[in-house]
Amino acid sequence: MCGIVGVLAQGPVAGSIVAALKRLEYRGYDSAGIATLEDGRLQRRRAEGKLKNLEAKLVAEPLGGTIGIGHTRWATHGKPTETNAHPHAARGLAVVHNGIIENFKALREELAAKGFGFATETDTEVAALVVEDEMASGKTPVEAVSAALKRLRGAFALVYLFEGEEDLLIGARQGAPLAVGYGDGEMYLGSDALALAPFTDRVAYLDEGDWVVVTRKGAEFHDAAGKVVQRRVQVSPAGSLLAEKGNYRHFMAKEIHEQPEVVGHTLAHYIDMSAMRLKPFDWPVDPKTLSKVTIIACGTAHVAGLVGKYWIERFARLAVEIDVASEFRYREAPVDPNGLTIVVSQSGETADTLASLKYVKEHGSKTIGVVNVPTSSIARLTDVAAPTLAGPEIGVASTKAFTCQLAAMAALALGLGKARGTLSDAEEATLLAELVSTPALIAEALKLERATEKIAQAVARARDVLYLGRGTSYPLALEGALKLKELTYIHAEGYAAGELKHGPIALIDQAMPVVVIAPHDPVFEKTVSNMQEVAARGGWLILIGETHAKAEAAVEIEHFLPMPEVGANFAPIVYAVPVQMLAYYTAVIMGKDADQPRNLAKSVTVE
Ligand code: G6P
Repeated sequence: MCGIVGVLAQGPVAGSIVAALKRLEYRGYDSAGIATLEDGRLQRRRAEGKLKNLEAKLVAEPLGGTIGIGHTRWATHGKPTETNAHPHAARGLAVVHNGIIENFKALREELAAKGFGFATETDTEVAALVVEDEMASGKTPVEAVSAALKRLRGAFALVYLFEGEEDLLIGARQGAPLAVGYGDGEMYLGSDALALAPFTDRVAYLDEGDWVVVTRKGAEFHDAAGKVVQRRVQVSPAGSLLAEKGNYRHFMAKEIHEQPEVVGHTLAHYIDMSAMRLKPFDWPVDPKTLSKVTIIACGTAHVAGLVGKYWIERFARLAVEIDVASEFRYREAPVDPNGLTIVVSQSGETADTLASLKYVKEHGSKTIGVVNVPTSSIARLTDVAAPTLAGPEIGVASTKAFTCQLAAMAALALGLGKARGTLSDAEEATLLAELVSTPALIAEALKLERATEKIAQAVARARDVLYLGRGTSYPLALEGALKLKELTYIHAEGYAAGELKHGPIALIDQAMPVVVIAPHDPVFEKTVSNMQEVAARGGWLILIGETHAKAEAAVEIEHFLPMPEVGANFAPIVYAVPVQMLAYYTAVIMGKDADQPRNLAKSVTVE
């Protein structure tokens, strides 16, 4: 993942910026660069590959200046060349960026029509040029960034440096993290507190939608509406920096909020964003000759696998069998030696999943591991890794790893479809555009936090909760019930909405909330019928659906979470967010430990 740094110091900054970038190396990168002001003029040094290449360049051509920005780039739009490396420059300014500018193509066209030229293939360059465009009409740097941010869509963090402005850096956060460090007459910006640790342990975090004006005297934070706001300065003990909670009360809340960034990075691993094409994938078996896929996992990873089944069947026209690992490993299942087995695991160490993996390998199946920890046993044992780039997940209940598993499963399903010829080039491009829009939609869905908290007040009083969904929302209903059980100890069940009348309808009364997950997909109207069945029996409905869903349901809905418009195909990646937040807030309201629920373990390495 890209790392960004900004330093306003009393002495030369180039060395400090490189030192901070070194602390971001753990995020992974393939090029790096820095920009400073020498006598007010912008100077840049950039290099392909590791930081030592940049350092060698800085020895050959040193950079002076007491203000600067730096970047480690993990390529998404455009190859990892020196030209595409950050900082990117426009007339009078430079920028470093982490994330995806989703509307970069539309902005490129708009800027090209105004006569702007482009030096790179990156989405980042438009983030520089829109500010230049705003400044061309006489705006100050602060006014220009504030106006430009309104034109950018996606999930990103940015830091801007301006020619002639020796005491000004402007940072912004929209779906990717950014921290401000407070030194002695010096100030810093960084992707996380770890990057700033060599300089200061006093750190404030930007909230979602914030932007910040930083000078050597301090930082002025603005919220998305432009209002000046205060953000708490916290002291981060150096040893605990990777396990930082930032502005959040719990790791779970932090990890829920990291989802726009980490889902974006996971998608970028599989998709060439500039061309809107899938990157080549090293299939361990020829997808064309495959007759069946088997998916094996536990817990939340199993739910991600279940969504994957729907996608692989739909896009690749392949039969998919899925099982929980603890059942699969003992039921003496026949294994097709020409088949493909996909195991899904955050930790890569879950004992039952590992044993199932060994079983299918012994019986000749080729394997893919959708795994978050690249050094884990499962990652090492599978033939091909399909990584999720969620970063370390500390909260016991899986959140960001889940949405990253969904992102990877979606990419695999589309890849299988493409390789098998069941998806055309045009379908691939349309579906990828929809998939790539999910990080920004997750950021939108996160805005429902306060509304979800209100609903959680009511859910906290329930004894039982039923979750309903159809199609890919059925696994999400299972996940909603699992999360609520894990975190609050309230009994909850997830059901396929169509199965309601075959049993759970007997439970409907005014005391049991029924959470209905109903994105606007082809089965929406069927789900509406199920809501009507609940309402007709005086049931208590909580609907998670698009703004118009409530009116279309035409039944009495007690609580409604109005979701942004999400394409029908990849809705679970976005709808996971309110489902997670509802369980989280119910736990917080009930005074339960959201990060470490009783009796549960993060990694289950025993049977
Ligand atoms: C435990 C965790 C869950 C996780 C499951 C599978 O039950 O509490 O959050 O989904 O194990 O773990 P894995 O690491 O294989 O994804």
